[in-house]
Amino acid sequence: MIAARSKEDIIAAARIEEVVADFVNLKKRGTNFVGLCPFHTEKTPSFHVSPSKGIYKCFGCGKGGDAVSFIMEHEKFNYPEALRHLANKYNIAIEETGDANKDQGDKMVKDSLFIINQFAQQYYHDNLSKTSEGRNIGLAYLKERGFTDEMKKKFMLGFALSEGDAFMKNALMNGYQHELLKKAGLITQKGNDDIDFFHSRVMFPLLNLSGKVVAFAGRIMGKDERAPKYINSPETEIYQKSALVYGIFQARNAIRKEDECFLTEGYTDVISMHQAAIENVVASSGTSLTPEQVKVIRRFTNNITLLYDGDPAGIKAALRGLEMMTEQDVNVRVVLLPDGEDPDSYLHKNGTAAFKEFIRINKKHFLQFKTALLLTDAGSDPLKKADVIKNIVETLAKIPDTVKRSILIKESSTSLDIGEQVLITEVNKIKRKQFKKETGAPAFEADRLYDDASEEKSPSQRNEAVEKDYYQEAGIIKLLLEYGNLEMEDGQKVIDLVLDEIKEAPLCNHDFQLMIHEMEELFKRGEAVDHHFFINHPEQKFRDITLTVIAFPYHLSENWDKKHEIFITTPQKNYKKDVVSTLHHFKLHKLMNMKLENQQQLKSVKGNAEDETHYMTVNMKLDEWISQLGKSLGTVTLSYFK
Ligand code: UTP
Ligand code: MN
Repeated sequence: MIAARSKEDIIAAARIEEVVADFVNLKKRGTNFVGLCPFHTEKTPSFHVSPSKGIYKCFGCGKGGDAVSFIMEHEKFNYPEALRHLANKYNIAIEETGDANKDQGDKMVKDSLFIINQFAQQYYHDNLSKTSEGRNIGLAYLKERGFTDEMKKKFMLGFALSEGDAFMKNALMNGYQHELLKKAGLITQKGNDDIDFFHSRVMFPLLNLSGKVVAFAGRIMGKDERAPKYINSPETEIYQKSALVYGIFQARNAIRKEDECFLTEGYTDVISMHQAAIENVVASSGTSLTPEQVKVIRRFTNNITLLYDGDPAGIKAALRGLEMMTEQDVNVRVVLLPDGEDPDSYLHKNGTAAFKEFIRINKKHFLQFKTALLLTDAGSDPLKKADVIKNIVETLAKIPDTVKRSILIKESSTSLDIGEQVLITEVNKIKRKQFKKETGAPAFEADRLYDDASEEKSPSQRNEAVEKDYYQEAGIIKLLLEYGNLEMEDGQKVIDLVLDEIKEAPLCNHDFQLMIHEMEELFKRGEAVDHHFFINHPEQKFRDITLTVIAFPYHLSENWDKKHEIFITTPQKNYKKDVVSTLHHFKLHKLMNMKLENQQQLKSVKGNAEDETHYMTVNMKLDEWISQLGKSLGTVTLSYFK
């Protein structure tokens, strides 16, 4: 872990304009700098950097923050990764905390694994040109497969000789420790001796996000039914098979630019697509996609398009990964290639233009794809068809994005040949259950959000007190999400003011508290506190709350607002008034609760003069505050003084 002192040093040293200038061409304008935003496509610069405030802000896409958050956003690093990047840039030695010895030891092992892998990669690569076996067998094979020299370099391809310990000998001669070679999985025990792990195979280095070799895959030459086609290095401290996304390092910029990632099954597919100038492509390495792999890809895009072999096994493999991706709010599309083809073979047979056209025509949203597949299986059996509908409804309910969900419901209604309203009702039933479970929101809230109009509950069924608390607090969250970054008359940020005001009266709802806490952290880091951030938040709860809260004005009737004293539908230009009145109402509500509680106490101490006086004094004080607040609120609060 990075010591707090080092963190401060790094943050103090990092000058926003210098950090940004590594990636963006900045021009001076007054005391600030402007440039073309690296986070969205634009022709005129709306990306501003303020050296005095230490922040950047794009007025086009709304992204903003400090030097650390810029690196996090741009390089898709996590917080410590960004700090380490900056430390490196500014030559700051990082002081580590925690178990320093252990951390240091772990780091040294990891570092040396990277170094030995880099050596091995270079060695295998050189075999292709510097050994006759490499030239005659390895290079000849790659040539037959049609890979260009450029691709051999880009993917650092290599060749492992047939001789039992050729690599080991070479590595030892170059001063690498035997133990380390073993730890890296590059050599393995056979009988009493250690020998190379890979023999007579074309070598595909597996790289992590920053381009370092973490392991290797080796492909057998030609066909041999007895041995596996590919073997991979064993897992090590730097190689976790389920998290590795083949090709992500070479593809990351293209994925970001195209805002789409093609996912293939094989290493050679990735390479052939690069060769065809389609660079936003990675491979899941044969197994079905894991959540860890999706997480890696999601750093760069939410759109994943699977390019799978059209055979039944390929389809089943595709379906398994899909449900999980949907839950992670990834837009999954599928292209089934003709039976028996993969992108590599298709490209070689038909060429780039035909391949692109095939993708364009056959790209289907996975739900369409799944529906068609299940319906074919069900045939004309009505019971089986009912099962298909149930299955699709469950998938629909997993789609977190409301807009996308409703579009897909409409489409499914057509493809399943069933009324849209029926689907909506069924999906709502599931969502309602989920929402209650996940957010702990009062039942009425889930009902309101996910009810179809015909199922309106009568108000008497609702717990009004709880409801009121919830809405008052949701009002505060809404305020922060919508206006958090704006300034009040005196220049104080709304978030700053609100955090200050609610310090003495924290919110009751646990999830709201967590969200406020996160907002506070963001604010402290100088990052923008806004609904964009929370709408994309990895925490599902936060996304749901944000959507609910932001959707307020569209759900509540005029009367309803008055009843709950919540100020909504205020246009942005009136936000200052809105902030003040929401805070007032929130405080007033808290005071009223305190007053009720105090009255209970007063009753319970009846007869005890001393205690009675105490609670009566408190009561008077509360009344005074309430009346003060009430005055500035006008008529709305009169109901409190009955
Ligand atoms: P394929 O059998 O489709 O191979 O396996 P491929 O990628 O098309 O390779 P070529 O074109 O025949 O050379 C797809 C992926 O499954 C993994 C590999 O990641 C491979 O790229 N795989 C396959 C293994 O890990 N082990 C195997 O024995 C076979
Ligand atoms: Mn292939």
